[in-house]
Amino acid sequence: MAETREYWNSRAGFIVAAIGSAVGLGNVWRFPYVCYKYGGGAFLIPYFIALVTTGIPLMILEYGIGQMVAKGAPQVFHSIRKHFEWLGWTAVLLSGVVVFYYSAVMAWCFDYLYHAVSLAWGDDAQTFFFQKSLQITNGPGELGGIVWPIFLGLLLTWISIFLIIYKGVKAVGKVVMITVPLPVLILGIFVLRGVTLPGAADGLAYYLTPDFKALLDPEVWLAAYSQIFFSLSLAFGVLIAYASYLPRNKDTANSAFITSFANCGTSFFAGFAVFSALGFLAHVKGVSVDKVIADGPGLAFITYPTIISNLPFWSIGFGVLFFLMLLTLGIDSAFSLVEGIVAGVADEWHLNKARVTTAVCVVGFAGGIIFTTGAGLYWLDIVDHFILQFGLPVIGIVECIFVGYFFDSKRLRTHINMHSEIKIGLWWDICIKYVTPILLGVMFLKNLYESMKTPYEGYPQWALFVGGWLVVIIIFIGGVVLMKLSKTEGDR
Ligand code: TRP
Repeated sequence: MAETREYWNSRAGFIVAAIGSAVGLGNVWRFPYVCYKYGGGAFLIPYFIALVTTGIPLMILEYGIGQMVAKGAPQVFHSIRKHFEWLGWTAVLLSGVVVFYYSAVMAWCFDYLYHAVSLAWGDDAQTFFFQKSLQITNGPGELGGIVWPIFLGLLLTWISIFLIIYKGVKAVGKVVMITVPLPVLILGIFVLRGVTLPGAADGLAYYLTPDFKALLDPEVWLAAYSQIFFSLSLAFGVLIAYASYLPRNKDTANSAFITSFANCGTSFFAGFAVFSALGFLAHVKGVSVDKVIADGPGLAFITYPTIISNLPFWSIGFGVLFFLMLLTLGIDSAFSLVEGIVAGVADEWHLNKARVTTAVCVVGFAGGIIFTTGAGLYWLDIVDHFILQFGLPVIGIVECIFVGYFFDSKRLRTHINMHSEIKIGLWWDICIKYVTPILLGVMFLKNLYESMKTPYEGYPQWALFVGGWLVVIIIFIGGVVLMKLSKTEGDR
């Protein structure tokens, strides 16, 4: 983010950047596997409801308050009430944890970029992914040593992030004009090939047929809500910071609608590629779609390669392009996560930005190493699940309460409506004050209770404690600690 406040020279620039932050691995990697895991069509209804009842209202809130107060997230909450500042810091820490494993997934992409050249996965992308690429162990307790190709990928990821941020984000502003639309085009080719594979119809039926019974499961709902948070980059403080660079007379409400729909549309579209490939795999193996492969973070690395192998021509070219695309999709999200952390820390303590950037990249790389071991996938799954199911919703609830009850949501709404093409009505206040916090709160508690009873994915309790609860607790306590530390700096 630039030194001066008014950074975006046009509204389009702001929207493209916001879409760049939102659209990332969350759309083509995370959305499909969460959707598959929670029953395909069963997941789409809660997902859509989550978008409308929480995603869009909260995005309007973050854009509006960022633009109005024109400060970063910790400072915005500080300006509402001094003691609320921790929330901003917790969001910053959360970005840190997410970027640890986000970069590990990018490391897998680097690995696959290399393998695409020889289509190394052959006919069995599933065995290749687990055994050859990740060299997976039997459980989180068995680390199995560092897998060097992935480690190298992680290093390359962090070097790329570092160079881009270090050189300044401005040049990248031009690059995103290509890297944002191009992936959608490539995805289009994958969808076309996917849906014409034998068995694709079964996969798509699984994806699109709603299963109303699954709607009774609170975990499905919370998974949908947290996917919306993650995918729209909500509750990370990043959007607040982005909007703080938006001139005061520019639209926010309509921008929020555009970003949200563009983002969720991309996810929905990616689903067609993945689920048609799942249908094809089920067809080949002669099993039903819900049994075809283990769900989880590896899904994308099995389904897309399957499509690549089945392209009628130029598979290697498409394979390389595809993983390049994933990397370009991921990198803008990754560096905006890092930028958010750097900006927060550097602004608060008036530190040299270049040094903070270096430090954050080194820590980010070090923190990701655990995910390059043979047990990396297990730890990634655990950390991701807990951070998203229990960290993000809590931040979301508290954010709504702070803004709804302590800031005066009506005042914010008036501000937003002054310059927005879409005038938001009382419904928005009702969402922020009641609907969103109550929905999230009920789901959260219900899910908390359930997860006490049955351990997530049957992982051992100690692993869930270390990779899950402890991480969540640390980011909340860490938020308070950072607030205390920053207060000693005196007035602001
Ligand atoms: N939304 C991004 C994705 O879908 C991931 C993400 C989460 C993110 N929080 C963020 C990106 C904050 C940038 C900033 O891949």
